Amino acid sequence: MAVYLRGMTDEETAVLTEAMLASGATLAWPQGLQVVDKHSTGGIGDKTSLILAPLLACCDLTVPMISGRGLGATGGTLDKLEAIPGFRTNLSLDEIRAVASSVGCVITGATADLVPADRKLYALRDVTATVASIPLITASIMSKKLAEGLDALVLDVKFGSGAFMKTVDDARRLAQSMVAVGKRMGVKTTALLTDMNQPLGRMAGNGVEVDESIEVLQGAGPADLVELTLELGAELLTAAGTFATREAALAEQRALVADGRALAKFREMVEAQGGDLDVPRARAGEVLVSAAHAGYIAAIDTEALGWAVIELGGGRKVLSDKIDPAVGFEILARLGQKVDAGEPILRLFAQPGSAAHTAAAVVRKAIKISDASPQAHPLILERIV
Ligand code: URA
Repeated sequence: MAVYLRGMTDEETAVLTEAMLASGATLAWPQGLQVVDKHSTGGIGDKTSLILAPLLACCDLTVPMISGRGLGATGGTLDKLEAIPGFRTNLSLDEIRAVASSVGCVITGATADLVPADRKLYALRDVTATVASIPLITASIMSKKLAEGLDALVLDVKFGSGAFMKTVDDARRLAQSMVAVGKRMGVKTTALLTDMNQPLGRMAGNGVEVDESIEVLQGAGPADLVELTLELGAELLTAAGTFATREAALAEQRALVADGRALAKFREMVEAQGGDLDVPRARAGEVLVSAAHAGYIAAIDTEALGWAVIELGGGRKVLSDKIDPAVGFEILARLGQKVDAGEPILRLFAQPGSAAHTAAAVVRKAIKISDASPQAHPLILERIV
C-alpha cells in the first residue's frame, strides 16, 4: 500500500524486478543467439504476436514468447492460438528451449517455475486494490519478460478506450518506467505508445484473429495491423543489430511476407507445438449490426466491444469458463468513416441464442455516430527510448 501511495524510483523498481525474477527459473541461451520478445499491454483485436514471432524467427532471431490469456476485456494470445486444433500452449521449459532452438520462435504459457513471486504478489495486489500501481505493474511485467533471457525487448503500450491505460499520460508513464527498468537490467528496451481507441485490424475473437493473422502473413490484411506489427519488428531487428536502419528492417519483413517465408515459419511453429492449420477452424453464424442513422463514426468504446466478445463466449467471465473459438466480430467501419443509415458497421460471429442480441445491443451503444468527423490520430503516437 505504501508503494501504491508513494511510488518507487526506477532503481527501486529494478531491484524489486530483479528479486521477483530470482524467485524462479530463468531461460538461458547459447552464446551468439539474439533473443528478443515483444510485450503488449493488451487491446481488442491485437494479434501482432502471431505475425511478429515468425517474422523475427525468419531473420535469425530467437523468440521465446511467453504469453497470457484474456485479461479483463482483452483477448489472450494463448486463447487465440488454441483455436488452432491441436495447438499446445503448456510447453515445459525443455520444450520451450527445443522449439525455440529448432524453429526460432515459440508462443506458450508461463510454467509454474517462472517468476512464482509474481503470482503471489498479484493475488495480494488484487485483494488490496493495489493492482493499478505503475512500479508494481512494471515489476510484474518485466520480471516475467526478463525471465525469458532476452537481449532486446519492445513494449507496445496502448492508450485509449480499449486499453488498460486510458490516457496517453498514464501509458507514457508506464512505458518510461518499463523502458528504464529494462535498460537498467541490461536488456535493450524500447516502447511504442499506440492508439487503442478502435480495434486493431478488423477481427476480434479467437479463431477469426488467427484467420486475420494468416491473411497478413499472406500479404493482405488490414493496414493498421500490418503497420504496427512491422514497426514493432523493426524496433527489435535494429536493437539486435540485424539491420542498421528501420527502413531496411521494414523492407526485409515485407519481403518475408511477399515470398511466403513468414507464413511457412508460422506453420512450422504451429506444427512444432502440435497444431494443424489445415483442419478447418469453426466460425459461428453471422449477425450484421447496422448504423441507426447516417453520420461519421465519431467514437468507439473499444473496451465494450471486448466485453461483447466475452458475452458471445469468446472470453471468460470466470476462470472456469470454456472459450468458444468460433465467435467474435469483424468491425466494418473505422473512426472517421462516413456511414449511411442502415449500413452494416459490424459483423458478429455468434452462436444461435440470446447472447447475439445482447452483444448487438452492446455494439450499437459502443459505436457513436455523429454529424461531425472526429480528429484523426496516428496509430503510433510516440517512441520511448
Ligand atoms: N499485466 C501483468 O502481467 N501484471 C500486471 O501487474 C498488470 C498487467
